[in-house]
Amino acid sequence: MKKFLLGVSILSVLATLSFSCRMQHQHQYQHREREQGIEKKIEKGYQVYKNKCAACHWETVSPEQVKNIRKTVMSGGRPPFGAPPMSEVSARVKKFYPKEEEFVAFVKDYITNPSRDKGVCLPMAYRVFGVMPPIGQSMTEEEKEAVARWMYHRYKMTWEEFMKKHPH
Ligand code: HEC
Repeated sequence: MKKFLLGVSILSVLATLSFSCRMQHQHQYQHREREQGIEKKIEKGYQVYKNKCAACHWETVSPEQVKNIRKTVMSGGRPPFGAPPMSEVSARVKKFYPKEEEFVAFVKDYITNPSRDKGVCLPMAYRVFGVMPPIGQSMTEEEKEAVARWMYHRYKMTWEEFMKKHPH
């Protein structure tokens, strides 16, 4: 009888273990699927960036480039691009909209209905480049979301770090 009970309890321990392993496995699998979903969106966002944004926004600038561009602008010249680089825009927007969902909502709205009032860029950006045209009006919701998520995940610097590295 004792042996039998021991057998039963060992079996139930084994069953519980294998059940919880399966659960964990499934959990990891769902987690991986979610991550892959986000990866795909970011990847698509980069394509959208290249097609719809890169003509004005460079991806990044080096501190050296910023210095030279600043000199050009100070002496009345035009910068080599039509808008602040995305590294700067992303850091700036994150300062005001740090959470991913708020950031995405802001970017989707701004690119569709841009205005000086809503904008969070430095005053110099509007002086030098003017307000952004409403590019988002000819984009799908998916494209807008993808490019906004790409902007959020592509850049890691805070605004303070960006300005320290690229003083202007
Ligand atoms: C024709 C040039 C042009 C294109 C193309 C363009 N932008 Fe812009 N963008 C600008 C200019 C100029 C500014 C700075 C002035 C402003 O914020 O309106 C800007 C600013 C921004 C800002 C900061 C908004 C703020 O003021 O707080 C975001 C976000 C942005 N762009 C996203 C995008 C995305 C995403 C795309 C591509 C889907 C894109 N832009 C395409 C010109 C452009």
